Amino acid sequence: MPSISFKAPDIAIDLGSSNTMVYVRKHGLAISEPTLVVVNTENRHMVRAVGDEARYLLGRTRDTLTAISPIENGTITDVDAVAVLIGYFIRKAIGVNHLFPPRVLVSIPVGTPAVSRRAIYEAVRKNKCNKVYLVEKVLSAAIGSGLPIYDPVGSMVVDIGGGTTDAAIISLGGLVVSRSVPVGGSRMDEAIVSYLKNNSSMLIGTRMAEEIKIDLAAALPSRENRHVHVRGRDLLSAHAMDVEFTSAQAYEAVREPCMAILATIKWVLERTPPELAADIMRGGIHLTGGASQLLGLDQFIGQQTGIPVLLAKNPEDATVSGMGHILENEELLNEIMNSSLNRNK
Ligand SMILES: Nc1ncnc2c1ncn2[C@@H]1O[C@H](COP(=O)(O)OP(=O)(O)OP(=O)(O)O)[C@@H](O)[C@H]1O
Ligand SMILES: [Mg+2]
Repeated sequence: MPSISFKAPDIAIDLGSSNTMVYVRKHGLAISEPTLVVVNTENRHMVRAVGDEARYLLGRTRDTLTAISPIENGTITDVDAVAVLIGYFIRKAIGVNHLFPPRVLVSIPVGTPAVSRRAIYEAVRKNKCNKVYLVEKVLSAAIGSGLPIYDPVGSMVVDIGGGTTDAAIISLGGLVVSRSVPVGGSRMDEAIVSYLKNNSSMLIGTRMAEEIKIDLAAALPSRENRHVHVRGRDLLSAHAMDVEFTSAQAYEAVREPCMAILATIKWVLERTPPELAADIMRGGIHLTGGASQLLGLDQFIGQQTGIPVLLAKNPEDATVSGMGHILENEELLNEIMNSSLNRNK
């Protein structure tokens, strides 16, 4: 019989729009799986698959199954599905044999409205965990990137994830200027879908668009002209069709989301107090999040702002690493638990 432990280890859940990562105190990063749930179309309470398994089923779902991405652009759109996901991740990370449930730290975009914060509390509490604390993902990403955020200097972090871009100036442990916009990797995928629809009358799925983005798209015009063969459905005849999609077209397709990301960074820079602006010029803009890896995005931001840009070593892990760092440091954890975000529940 498995032994029952007294107190469950604390866990951090980076609840991303595309991927969820879980860190278990004293054990490290435990899980990284897509933020996806597949349910029965007729009866949405019947969950068929979660995480990796749901992703596997995604391209194979029949009419009887529906895939749900319960977090869109950083906002919970389906509390029940998020509760299912959180329950699955908690069980997978630490099991169920604990007398006392864990303390759970969850990441959120900056400026998440009270109603969405309540939805997260509700989703975690449905799993019998009452000690839930929130932390901004951009603050965690700064900690995860090893920036001196508690020093009296300014640091700038831009987390470009699947669903949101969060940009912030951080100093003395707090966000001085920050902004979150619903633009990230998924918006680039949708931009590629729209481009093919409008220019080639062709329909492709977002998963294929994501592959094209990673393979071919760039934030700067490419010097070498590459192309990929794309197979989709003719919008008029509904027959299968192929087109050649060039790097120049891919660049054009993702231009709008790249400009929106740049506008967010400029918005934050324009509101940065002059005494911190000098620190940012010196320390640079630190990029984290999966979509920050879009080819040339770092260079594009550097050219357009005139500030050095540094891409994190493992951009997708920065937020969860920072959350892990918080969990391992009781003083830091207390500070987060007593922050205004968690006091005004
Ligand atoms: N090499 C790459 N080039 C471009 N985009 C990439 C690359 N690798 C991953 N991505 C994109 O990164 C995104 C996922 O990033 P990440 O895991 O940081 O998002 P998330 O944390 O789930 O979302 P969010 O924080 O916005 O809620 C996806 O859109 C994915 O396609
Ligand atoms: Mg994220």
